[in-house]
Amino acid sequence: MTQKDHPQPKDRFRVRPGAPLAGTTTVPGDKSLSHRAVMFSALAQGASRIKAWLPAGDTEASLRAVQALGVQVERHSAHELTIHGGAFTQPASPLDLVNAGTGIRLLTGIMAGQPFESVLDGSEQLRRRPMNRIIQPLRLMGASIDGVNGGYAPLSVKPSALRGIGYTMPMASAQVKSAILLAALFADGETTVTQPGPARDHTERMLAAMGARLTVDGNTIVIQPGSQLEAIDFTVPADISSAAFPLVAALIIPGSDLTLTNINLNPTRTGLLDVLQEMGADLTVTETGLEAGEPVGTIRARHSTLKAVRVGGEVVVRMIDEFPIFMVAALAAEGETFVKDAGELRVKETDRIAVMVAELAKMGAAITETEDGFYLFGPQMLRGAQVYGHDDHRISMSLVVAALAAEGDALVNDARCAGDSFPGFADVMRGIGADVTVEVVPDEG
Ligand code: S3P
Repeated sequence: MTQKDHPQPKDRFRVRPGAPLAGTTTVPGDKSLSHRAVMFSALAQGASRIKAWLPAGDTEASLRAVQALGVQVERHSAHELTIHGGAFTQPASPLDLVNAGTGIRLLTGIMAGQPFESVLDGSEQLRRRPMNRIIQPLRLMGASIDGVNGGYAPLSVKPSALRGIGYTMPMASAQVKSAILLAALFADGETTVTQPGPARDHTERMLAAMGARLTVDGNTIVIQPGSQLEAIDFTVPADISSAAFPLVAALIIPGSDLTLTNINLNPTRTGLLDVLQEMGADLTVTETGLEAGEPVGTIRARHSTLKAVRVGGEVVVRMIDEFPIFMVAALAAEGETFVKDAGELRVKETDRIAVMVAELAKMGAAITETEDGFYLFGPQMLRGAQVYGHDDHRISMSLVVAALAAEGDALVNDARCAGDSFPGFADVMRGIGADVTVEVVPDEG
């Protein structure tokens, strides 16, 4: 991948390492839940009030898309919305989901059941991500969907009658599972979806809370069509995938002692905590209650001597978004880290294995890629360098954390993309003692 494939960054993080992280903080609302809260309450009858919503690049794209479908949205503040759900109207132009994979895949499931034509599109980056994984099962349901070049956005969806299906998913993907479950709301009979592993279950929890007739038995979900979703009030807990950045930073920077509050601890999302604990991380996880049907709690992380582990199998899907930051933790661990069964990382916003290996190499890291993972020997001390985020939020923030534990200052080109999931990332990091600032990239021409 060359830098030409991505928009050239206009801003960058400047990182000066050394300071321990300390104090108590939280992170913005959960991205997966914020997408779903907007889309599902748009489908419901009546007004849903959503608090602590995530106003990030990805989720704002979903919000604009439901507005383009005629849904009225009252914006009380950046974080608080009332969605007046009900009937959709045909959008005047293609729905633009920008960089949001969750946005386009879930909304395509919903559009498949509508009595009008629609087109779903996004950035150049989103147009490179595979859509056949949703097109195939939705076509089995009778949907009329056409992608470009055999399965890429823009996706053109035409009205058609949907039927219930029994579908065994070839990969553990919550986006695929959700697209099918959402289309199934509009089908003429029951749909059964079986997943190979425990992909995040927010769709099941939220749809059930809104009155959908849905049962879950292990990895199989059965959903009945036809029930009108009920509006709900919803407070979004903080995103564990965003918490992962300050959390890993605290574990690998000497002298750190950090507490993160109100974090979503849904067990389908906590694979990173399990793996870090196996590595000997000094983590204290305390569940404090339920928020919107999701367990939430506090995580205390103190600097730790980490030992390497092998990662594969069921836990992979429960930490799928955390592998870039896990790679940074693994570099600090004693021994051989070996990751397998993680080939899905190659079809995220970027090929997250290749990109992290290449960028960390600029900081002196030696990491070997395999087809479905990587291995490395640690601990490895990195040195500050100029690295590049590739328009991928989780890459950019993982590189900042790597730089905080390195020797010498670093520049991480592409600060903007962090805002796709974690607006205010540098402010939160500075608030706990890290020296991270955002600056404009000087014009080299
Ligand atoms: C998500 C599902 C995951 C994850 C993504 C968010 C969701 O993708 O990587 O960041 O909200 O459903 P896959 O379903 O493709 O694994």
